[in-house]
Amino acid sequence: MGDPRVDAIAREARDAAAAAQSAAALEQVRVTYLGRQGLLTQLLRSLGTLPAAERPLVGAAANEAKRELEALLETGLAAALARERRTARERERPDLTLPGRRPPLGGLHPLTLVADEIIAIFAGLGFSVAEGPEVETDYYNFEALNIPRDHPARDMQDTLYLTDDTLLRTHTSPVQIRTMKAQRPPVRIIVPGKVYRRDVADMSHSPMFHQVEGLAVDRAITMGDLRGTLELFAREMFGPRSRIRFRPSFFPFTEPSAEVDVLCFVCQGGGCRLCKQGGWLEILGSGMVHPHVLRNVGYDPEEVTGWAFGMGVERIAMLKYGIDDLRLFFDNDLRFLRQFV
Ligand code: FA5
Ligand code: MG
Repeated sequence: MGDPRVDAIAREARDAAAAAQSAAALEQVRVTYLGRQGLLTQLLRSLGTLPAAERPLVGAAANEAKRELEALLETGLAAALARERRTARERERPDLTLPGRRPPLGGLHPLTLVADEIIAIFAGLGFSVAEGPEVETDYYNFEALNIPRDHPARDMQDTLYLTDDTLLRTHTSPVQIRTMKAQRPPVRIIVPGKVYRRDVADMSHSPMFHQVEGLAVDRAITMGDLRGTLELFAREMFGPRSRIRFRPSFFPFTEPSAEVDVLCFVCQGGGCRLCKQGGWLEILGSGMVHPHVLRNVGYDPEEVTGWAFGMGVERIAMLKYGIDDLRLFFDNDLRFLRQFV
């Protein structure tokens, strides 16, 4: 049929299409025969140079060959694409026998670990957890704690005020007032939480830090009970050989008052930068609840007595883990935090 030149090209093209295994190879065949420089394209373009008598015959044969090749390439391409999709699916089929990939698990922050441990020690002594707001009123943070307006004791805790009457609590002691106003003695509570002061950050201070308040009120509670309780706490927290000392101090809401120090772990008492050459690190303030405070919450100081303390969680964590800079707790450096997981 047709023309020998056309037949030759058409046969060659059919063989090439049949041999092409992939979509890319088929495209190559299309370009070779049907592209702008393709063999069939060129033949059709050169019809004008043929003798007039040959033109219709060769032209018809070439066009027929072109349509045939186009159809062939189309079916071939559909089949090749289906084949390629199938192999891709095979290759990507999940291997259900592989062990699962575990999502990385976070750990508790060292300050959370230490606060939890403090709570656990006091829970073992019959204390229950109480909490209060971080935004406090002047009344709970100062007034009810026997610190009237303009009293110089307010300078002890540089306060962040929100309005004239509301502030970020400077200690967890306001929760003493809230709890005692809400319940009758006996009271045994432990109060963990954040507190805020206009302190400049250094190795042992931060403007936001954590305290745990303790409060015990009952008939005949003594300073000796306070001392025994805190010594037991120190042994549980720092080990049986830890050393603490009581130092007379002043708080408007306790009388008498004492601050408690732990021997500095860096210098063992010799004096260093961390303990500001003192040899000891202060961890808490404490004392016997002032009769004015008991009266402010409606308790009778002739009937009940009590003690209270407020300890710094960061300081305790530093002593427990041997960390010489408090700011490490707030840098969020994973190399630091991962050591506690
Ligand atoms: C108080 O805050 C009293 N409310 C404690 C108290 C409670 C006394 C109940 C009597 C009865 P003080 O300001 O000393 O006291 O703080 C208590 C502890 O918080 C300190 O011993 C120290 O461990 C820690 N602390 C104080 N300021 C900072 C700070 N800027 N950064 C980190 N820890 C601090
Ligand atoms: Mg102090």
